[in-house]
Amino acid sequence: MANETNKNAPINQIIVGDSLLVLKSLCNNSVDLTITSPPYYQQRDYNNGINGIGNEDSIEEYIDNILKVFFECVRVTKDTGTVVFNLGDKYLDNGLTMLPYKFAIKAIESKKVFLVNQLVWHKLNPTPRQDKRKLIPSTEPFFIFAKSKNYHFDLDSYLDYSCESQTKKKVTNKLGKKYFDLIEKSDLTEVQKENAKQALKEAILSVHNGEIDSFRMKIKGIHKEAYGGMSGGRNNQIRHDGFTIIRITGNKLKKDLIESPVEITKDNPHPAVYPLYIIQELIKLLSKQNDLVLDPFCGSGTTCLAAKNLKRNYLGIEINPLYVKLANERLLKADFGQELFL
Ligand SMILES: C[S@@+](CC[C@H](N)C(=O)[O-])C[C@H]1O[C@@H](n2cnc3c(N)ncnc32)[C@H](O)[C@@H]1O
Repeated sequence: MANETNKNAPINQIIVGDSLLVLKSLCNNSVDLTITSPPYYQQRDYNNGINGIGNEDSIEEYIDNILKVFFECVRVTKDTGTVVFNLGDKYLDNGLTMLPYKFAIKAIESKKVFLVNQLVWHKLNPTPRQDKRKLIPSTEPFFIFAKSKNYHFDLDSYLDYSCESQTKKKVTNKLGKKYFDLIEKSDLTEVQKENAKQALKEAILSVHNGEIDSFRMKIKGIHKEAYGGMSGGRNNQIRHDGFTIIRITGNKLKKDLIESPVEITKDNPHPAVYPLYIIQELIKLLSKQNDLVLDPFCGSGTTCLAAKNLKRNYLGIEINPLYVKLANERLLKADFGQELFL
């Protein structure tokens, strides 16, 4: 992908500069997806003396600065797009400040966006510093904001590692056999038994076809009723039809929780790299091939790399030229197939 322009947005490059100033030079609705993690508040030294965001005297001032960049991202992102901000919290005077949530509330209150999800990143290897009076913080939110109800959302591609060999579990001939035996042994009427066997055959077929992962059957007089026998859909079905089938779709439910270790790569000296894996999943969920993905605090270029790996265009902005050099080196290596998380 060459360095071209897309409705005045430069693509497939990282611009050295202050994100607010650079964003102001971009057109409305020129970006499909923004994903970023702004600098932590008074926590890391990213800038080697360069005056970036993160060193403000108060949290309020810091949040205001982040919001200025956020609203510029909202402006340049298309109506079908989304803006994802990942923020870390900060302890001050022994207490958590709830900084990410203060930011998110102000963002929503602007009415320019609404919050689609708060995706919680569960860090599998948090800093093992156990305070005797606190639990170890091991989560961080990724706030997914949309501008309109038409936001692009490809749920099927998110966390989809399916390939024939992975998904097609061995479905043995024994599947459901125990239920056929139990139906025969039960006190159901002949009609109920026939209906139960028919429903059971259909459930077995659904497993064979990969529509469901598995199922459970409850038969009147054989299995306990649900919820201690209280009235409810399933119990009513058991009482009326003599059976019920619970269809199980396993882990295909896609939840607002994602697990990943903190990236610790010895050849990446950036102090706050977020996981390539999570960013790739977000890009699959929220954009299409050839879309433009923006990161206004691009650091070592994780978002740009994830976009490139997934055949999206990217635009990074970073104030520290040393990180831009690092990011460009990572992107170059990607041409040779290194640092893929696919
Ligand atoms: C949390 S880091 C981003 C790390 C990145 N997600 C990665 O995986 O490498 C935030 C970055 O914002 C940069 N930064 C701080 N103030 C900035 C500003 N005003 N404009 C552009 N970049 C800025 C910092 O230098 C730092 O690299």
